[in-house]
Amino acid sequence: MAKVKDVLQALDDLTGGRCLKSSHDWASGKNPWVVMKSSGIPGKGIVEMPGLIWGDAEQEVKKIAVCMTVTESVIELAAATGVDAIVSHHPIADAANSGGVLIKYYLGIYNLAHFELHEAFHGTHPGIPWLHGHRPFFSSVSYGGVPGNVVNVGNVLPEIDTIGDLIDRLNILMNAKLDEHMLEIERKERGCDKIEETSVAACAKILVGDRSNKVRTVIHMHPHCGFTPEHLEQLKRDYPEADTVIASISRVYPGHPLVAKAEELGMNFICGNSHALEIFENGVPLAQALKNHLPECEVVIFRERQTSIPLEEVGSPEIRDYGTKIAAKYLHR
Ligand SMILES: [Fe+2]
Ligand SMILES: [Fe+2]
Repeated sequence: MAKVKDVLQALDDLTGGRCLKSSHDWASGKNPWVVMKSSGIPGKGIVEMPGLIWGDAEQEVKKIAVCMTVTESVIELAAATGVDAIVSHHPIADAANSGGVLIKYYLGIYNLAHFELHEAFHGTHPGIPWLHGHRPFFSSVSYGGVPGNVVNVGNVLPEIDTIGDLIDRLNILMNAKLDEHMLEIERKERGCDKIEETSVAACAKILVGDRSNKVRTVIHMHPHCGFTPEHLEQLKRDYPEADTVIASISRVYPGHPLVAKAEELGMNFICGNSHALEIFENGVPLAQALKNHLPECEVVIFRERQTSIPLEEVGSPEIRDYGTKIAAKYLHR
C-alpha cells in the first residue's frame, strides 16, 4: 500500500529531484524551485514549494486526484469520491484555494493530503511544443532577461503544412468537437443559449493569416509571461525564417500590439491552447507518470469546466426568486 511519503518520492523522482524533502530543505534556500511570487499586493504573494504541502507522511494513499488549481469544488469532489491525496499543478495558498478557510481545517476534516508541483514540473518535457505541432531549436525561460518569459522557436513537424493544419491538430488532440457538443447539449437542456464555456469560447483561432498559409517555423510564446512586441521584433531578426507566431496558455485579442507587430512583420498569428487546457498539456502526463511510479494507486483527473450564464437565467426559478428577495430585503443599494 502506497503512503503519502511514496507520492512525494514519486514526484521527486519524476522531476529528477526537484521536490522539497523536508522543512530543512525549504529553509536551506538551496532549492531553486522554491519560488516567491508576488505582484506586490500586501499579503497576496505566495511561495511555491514543490512537494508535500499538507498531510501525514505515513498516511495510506489508495486514490490520487491530479488537478490544475485547488478550489472548494476540487476539495469537495475529492472528499466525496474517496480521494486520499490531491496533486495540483498550480501552487496552493492558505484560505484562498481552500475556499476562504484554513487548509489545516478543511483538508484536515477530509483526511486529504495535498502536493503541489508547478515551476518544478515545467521544462521536464517537450509536450507543449509537440501538441502545437513543432520541435523547438531555440528555447528560453527568461527571454529578453524577463524571468519566466518562456519562448520556443521551432520547425513544424513533417505532417504540418499550413496554419490550418496547426489548428486542426490542436482541435483533434484537445477533443474540441466533443466540448462544443457538450455545450450545445447543456444550452438545449437548460433552455439557455447564452451559456458560455471556457474551452469553447477560448478555442484555437487564427488572428492573422489564412488557413491555407504555409507554416515552416514558429515563434511560440505566452503573452502573460511578459512577452512584448520588441521581443517579437528581435526574434524575427534572429530567425528571419520564422513565419508564424503562436500564443498559448494566455492569448491576445485583435487590436493588441503583438497582433499588429506580427502583421507588420508579415507573419501569421495563431492562438493555441488556452490555460483551461493545461490539464491535458501538463496534468495528463503528470498523472500518467504518477501511475507509472505507483501502479497500486488509482489516479483520476479533475478537469475544471467553467461556465458563464446570465443572472436572469441561472439555477431554478426558486433560487432566482430567493436571490431577488434576499437582495431586496437585506442587501441595500
Ligand atoms: Fe503550468
Ligand atoms: Fe498553468
